[in-house]
Amino acid sequence: MSSLDHTGVEPAFTISELTVPETIDSPDAADFIGMAEVRSTVEAEQRGAPGELFTAEEMLPNWKDESTVMLGFVAKVGARVVARGSLALPADASECWASVAVLADYRSQGIGSALYERLEQTATARGRTTIQNQTSFLATATVTGDSISAPTGFGSVPAELASTRFLRNRGFSLEQVGRLSGLALPVDEEALSALLAETTATAAGYRTVTWQGRTPDEWLESIAVLRTRMSTDAPNAGIEQSEDVWTAERVRAFDDLWETSPRMLITTIVVDDATGQVAGYTELDVPPEPDRSVEQRDTLVLRGHRGRRLGMLLKLTNIRGLRDRFPDHGLIETMNAEENRHMLDVNEAVGFVPLSYAARWKKILGRR
Ligand SMILES: CC(C)(COP(=O)(O)OP(=O)(O)OC[C@H]1O[C@@H](n2cnc3c(N)ncnc32)[C@H](O)[C@@H]1OP(=O)(O)O)[C@@H](O)C(=O)NCCC(=O)NCCS
Repeated sequence: MSSLDHTGVEPAFTISELTVPETIDSPDAADFIGMAEVRSTVEAEQRGAPGELFTAEEMLPNWKDESTVMLGFVAKVGARVVARGSLALPADASECWASVAVLADYRSQGIGSALYERLEQTATARGRTTIQNQTSFLATATVTGDSISAPTGFGSVPAELASTRFLRNRGFSLEQVGRLSGLALPVDEEALSALLAETTATAAGYRTVTWQGRTPDEWLESIAVLRTRMSTDAPNAGIEQSEDVWTAERVRAFDDLWETSPRMLITTIVVDDATGQVAGYTELDVPPEPDRSVEQRDTLVLRGHRGRRLGMLLKLTNIRGLRDRFPDHGLIETMNAEENRHMLDVNEAVGFVPLSYAARWKKILGRR
């Protein structure tokens, strides 16, 4: 379908619905690959981190995961994909997540607006009442000019950023600011061992188990419980987040999808020796090339087990697990809510330092 005609002569760009290919080698994969390239380029620019964050092949499992329907649009100039818009629709939820990215050379021509309009129309047609968005920006962007404070009281966003203007002009409000932190590897072995020894003493009565790839059968149910809790226990401020229910079957289906990705998940759980209950977990998501960053995914300790430094024990043990399996990777990145002091304390003690920031925005649909 064509976009609006901005030149009065012929459309400067076209917008079409994205086809999700069977594999990245399928004949119809070109738009998906173009979409992934735009995403990586713009994300790298926003975060100040050169290089590919997620390849098309690595993104494909997410687009096939039936528990969150993903819909996409691409904008093209000629045959070139210059912008992308995507909508993530979690199952049984009133909220959805939109994302728009336009290559730098093609901004301020109405492409972002046209894509966003399609996303909002789609969200409404699918019965969603809240649309949300996450944007990234460099720490240096906060130094000058006016800023908008998060209602949490932690963190702010520069008012003059293109993404800030774009979202506010379309009725979004800032709900939360997050921090992307990085840990350079390898971590000093002596410091890691000392911290681990101290933590193990505080966490007496618990043991850790680490694996890579598929979830061992005996932990399937526990991982389902922990992932379900993760959806609501992490601080979400004013962001709408319906409970995302995981079952053992869903954990297995997720494992199956992940096996089609070149990336590898390393998981550590902590088990209460007295009861055999799994009290928490943490996951690192490892790309195949060592010069790309390892992404910290979930970390959670169940409520009844908090305050015993299990979060620290999990993180340190998983970093060890990473070092043993992928000794050449040089960086771990992690995103935390700016108000999440407990998690930030753990990360700062391990040696993480801020790299860039993220803002989370919300709009109630139907309101202008
Ligand atoms: C935010 C972003 C998506 C906007 O994309 P874009 O293609 O430049 O968007 P548009 O051209 O439709 O609109 C940008 C501005 O240009 C104006 N504009 C629209 N058509 C225009 C035209 N033909 N000529 C000049 N300006 C125009 C719009 O009014 C808009 O102003 P506003 O942001 O103050 O409301 C883009 O800057 C981007 O990709 N940023 C990085 C990724 C990001 O942060 N994404 C999250 C935002 S959802």
